[in-house]
Amino acid sequence: MLKSIIPPAVGLAIGLGLFGASADASETLDGRVLWERAEGPTGKSCASCHSPLEETMRGRAATYPKFIAAMDREVTLEQRINGCRRKALGVEPWAPDAPELEAVAELLRSLD
Ligand code: HEC
Repeated sequence: MLKSIIPPAVGLAIGLGLFGASADASETLDGRVLWERAEGPTGKSCASCHSPLEETMRGRAATYPKFIAAMDREVTLEQRINGCRRKALGVEPWAPDAPELEAVAELLRSLD
């Protein structure tokens, strides 16, 4: 079987599409680039509303997870980021384990 000669880690990387993304991996995974990247029908980026990044987001990440009264539940930083993707940009939320989500969360945590 062909499958059995592919090491599991490589098979996983192929399955996750890591090789396909490798051409611009440094760009996709740079939180600051993602922050400024316009996406979706509004043509906005995170920076369109949250700018300058350092001033608007410093110390914010450390307040998560926190209870958001309007949503009547506790949300994580990642869920908050995805909430803005969905509501503010009108695009699909990132998967919970998406490298992009990790990169942006990491960027915000670095400002604490
Ligand atoms: C159209 C404007 C708009 C855009 C674009 C936008 N946001 Fe937001 N964001 C808001 C507003 C308004 C709030 C606070 C009010 C609310 O929604 O609860 C907020 C809140 C947040 C918070 C919580 C900050 C805190 O003080 O706890 C984070 C984190 C965040 N946004 C991340 C992002 C990310 C990441 C993007 C890009 C994917 C983004 N936002 C795009 C308007 C926007």
